[in-house]
Amino acid sequence: MHFRQLILALSSVLAFLPQSLLASLPFGHYGAEGTVLFLNGFHFVSGHSDWEISANHYCVIIRDDMLQCAVYNTATAPAHLAGIEYIITTDAFETLDYEERQLWHSHVYEITSGFLIEPGLPSSVDHTIMKDVLVGTYGKTFHTWRYDQQNSAYPIGIPELVMGYTGDDQITPDFVTKRDELFGVNTTEIRESRTDIPPPAVVAGADSWKYGYVLTLGLVNKTSDTNFPPNDGCSNAVGV
Ligand SMILES: *[C@@H]1O[C@H](CO)[C@@H](O)[C@H](O)[C@H]1NC(C)=O
Ligand SMILES: *[C@@H]1O[C@H](CO)[C@@H](O)[C@H](O)[C@H]1NC(C)=O
Repeated sequence: MHFRQLILALSSVLAFLPQSLLASLPFGHYGAEGTVLFLNGFHFVSGHSDWEISANHYCVIIRDDMLQCAVYNTATAPAHLAGIEYIITTDAFETLDYEERQLWHSHVYEITSGFLIEPGLPSSVDHTIMKDVLVGTYGKTFHTWRYDQQNSAYPIGIPELVMGYTGDDQITPDFVTKRDELFGVNTTEIRESRTDIPPPAVVAGADSWKYGYVLTLGLVNKTSDTNFPPNDGCSNAVGV
């Protein structure tokens, strides 16, 4: 599987492809201007499968076996930068140790279910990218704008691990309907159009939440001694 070759081969029909694909800069394909894929899909917070998030992904190519995506929350306007997702091939995933794998989610169901979409792309192009590029991939996603702080003015707290759905009846149907209305798509029809995509077996270790693992992040405060904040409180600014 070669992300770069496949996506470049399809580039003539990817109308929104930025000119930077042709960039000669040594850091070409890095940064938002190098976006080659725009995806919408669903995440949920690890440990809270009912904390549903509709996530827009803007992905760039790192290597033939890896994409990286900036993830935006579609429930906010302007859309909050929710986090990041790294996407790797099956071969790459198989090189990871078992504990690392537990942080990753498979994409096979997201694709066969029609949950993962590429808004605006011709369906034939979408189908090829889903079948030949994404169906066998794995994602690791951390959201920096926490679900439980989505209505806060600022991104309070520490990042959280999120996962992907792996079967029917895990997501609120209405949540999918709202997404469909937002993008003018029909997930049922997309799902039907993908029935010819053979679902690869999920490599052991991914989707750990299905097996009862509950993995969340914590801040480790290793402070043993500190002069901050000043003992006399906030009224005296420090050093100014
Ligand atoms: C979506 O497509 C399915 C299958 O064609 C159809 O039954 C359903 O009514 C459609 N939904 C909407 C909201 O158009
Ligand atoms: C870390 O621990 C120090 C010392 O107990 C405390 O003063 C500080 O507020 C803690 N910081 C956080 C972010 O928990």
